[in-house]
Amino acid sequence: MISVGDRDATCTERGALSSPVCCHCLPLEDMPTMNQAALEPVKYPGPRSPLCYGSLQLPSRWLLSPLAGYTNLSFRRVLRELGGLGLATTDLINAKGLLNGNRKSLQLAESCPEDTPYSVQIFGSEPAALCDAARLLEERGADSVDINMGCPVDRITKGGAGASMMCSADRTLSLVRSVVESVRIPVTVKMRLGWDDSQITAPRFAREFEQVGVAAIAIHGRTRAQGFRGSVSLDGIRQVVEAVDSVPVIGNGDVRSIPDAARMLQTTGCTGVSIGRGALANPWIFRQLAEWEATGRWSPSGSFEERLALLWRQFQYLQQQIGIEHAILTFRRTAHWYLKHMRVRSRLRHTFQQASTYEEVEAALRAVSAAGPCEGTRNGELPELTISVPSGPVERW
Ligand SMILES: Cc1cc2nc3c(=O)[nH]c(=O)nc-3n(C[C@H](O)[C@H](O)[C@H](O)COP(=O)(O)O)c2cc1C
Repeated sequence: MISVGDRDATCTERGALSSPVCCHCLPLEDMPTMNQAALEPVKYPGPRSPLCYGSLQLPSRWLLSPLAGYTNLSFRRVLRELGGLGLATTDLINAKGLLNGNRKSLQLAESCPEDTPYSVQIFGSEPAALCDAARLLEERGADSVDINMGCPVDRITKGGAGASMMCSADRTLSLVRSVVESVRIPVTVKMRLGWDDSQITAPRFAREFEQVGVAAIAIHGRTRAQGFRGSVSLDGIRQVVEAVDSVPVIGNGDVRSIPDAARMLQTTGCTGVSIGRGALANPWIFRQLAEWEATGRWSPSGSFEERLALLWRQFQYLQQQIGIEHAILTFRRTAHWYLKHMRVRSRLRHTFQQASTYEEVEAALRAVSAAGPCEGTRNGELPELTISVPSGPVERW
């Protein structure tokens, strides 16, 4: 296991005991109201067999989709604590960067015992580098390796990696086969529907990947040319499901709520659902999905207090991993975004951004906790959170 410092941020440790926002230490009247049942009836289209990647049975069929810049270890850890998550995948990592010992690449691949099961997503176009990287990750304890075949960004596709792999069938198939043969852990592939509307190659790739022993196929229901525009094609994902015999297909794209997940399962017949932006907007979504699968009902998403507690824990985990100085700088962007969404006054957000020591961060969050949101109530559900995606012509991303 690639591990970070083993200090565990529980209530008994530095920062948590004195935390302004540790959920377990809140006075009773401020305790979250997570046992309220949801009112909206959405039928679970089950029962379904458990989701397995080869011999690895995942705890649930609700997976975290990789989001470069966001799905880091600290975020994955808070999601796991909230419950319901079947598997989390890292941001995409350059296979050669890993092999060359690039600090950033190694850091992105870091995990810890609480972050299980986890998959590391690699990208590259050279079979030898991808195979060696997969072996390295297996040695270091990764539960699974995922090959990125969906990234639309020019910098990645120009080198023959990411979504451009969907344009060269023989080469790609041979590359994926060699990675599968290099390791004992499950190898999965994440792809889009195809390069553009005139080249919908995902069903054919899926069939062939199944033959070479890929353990699961995640499919984002858009083409590369679409970028993030338009809506996801459930029909396109269904065609991938229909193209394979038994390998699990993971449906992905635009799932932000239980009804969205119900539609994804029902319309496509997929075995699992992976969620990216919806998990950033609502980190409780995996727990809600697991509750819904088990009981047909689900509890509400977190309130202001819970989101603040979560932010604090995420910061704690980040500082354990990369040290306080880096954590403060790195966390500014995430915190700005969370706090804005939580309707925290701009003056208090500004104070947080200015904080340069652990004590100042703690004091800034204490002030946020004391003031509460400037709109809505502490215990009410938070408004929809918008996640920005690259815009403009996809060729210039
Ligand atoms: C900011 C951002 C970063 C992303 N990074 C990755 C990545 O590293 N690897 C990958 O396979 N997909 C990446 N994606 C695509 C997502 O995993 C996912 O396929 C897409 O966002 C659709 O799912 P969603 O609607 O649940 O977010 C990224 C998407 C966004 C918005």
